[in-house]
Amino acid sequence: MSRVITFGTFDIFHVGHLNILKRAAELGEYLIVGVSTDALNFSKKQRYPICPQHSRAEIVDALACVDEVFYEESLELKREYILQCKADILVMGDDWQGKFDEFSDICQVVYLPRTPSISTTELIEIVKES
Ligand code: CTP
Repeated sequence: MSRVITFGTFDIFHVGHLNILKRAAELGEYLIVGVSTDALNFSKKQRYPICPQHSRAEIVDALACVDEVFYEESLELKREYILQCKADILVMGDDWQGKFDEFSDICQVVYLPRTPSISTTELIEIVKES
């Protein structure tokens, strides 16, 4: 049984998020999702996500294609998360192409194409402008 892991913020959940999770799930039999914490997002982007971590995690966890959710507290812990979850495959969007190849010693690393023309950043801009 192949275990798949992926990571993301999944703020203002949109169809690009759904697509990557569905495609990630198709690569194995069990999908685990690391949802980044509010604090991790603040440290990366100097702003908090619109939706708090418990809501983001609850939405992701409710999806039929997702089996397990945990909080990603630190970018530096990716290797530990992959090992702890006994993941066989790491899936990332191709906006991260090549950036996670260092983990190919412990799992298969797969980059999937992003869904075009949608992102949380873009949605925030559209709402701000309207
Ligand atoms: N993703 C995707 N297609 C999109 C948007 C996101 O496949 N159009 C994927 C990302 O590649 C990532 C996962 O969804 O693997 C979570 O991405 P996240 O950064 O939470 O979403 P974005 O919409 O990209 O958010 P932001 O604009 O804040 O970067």
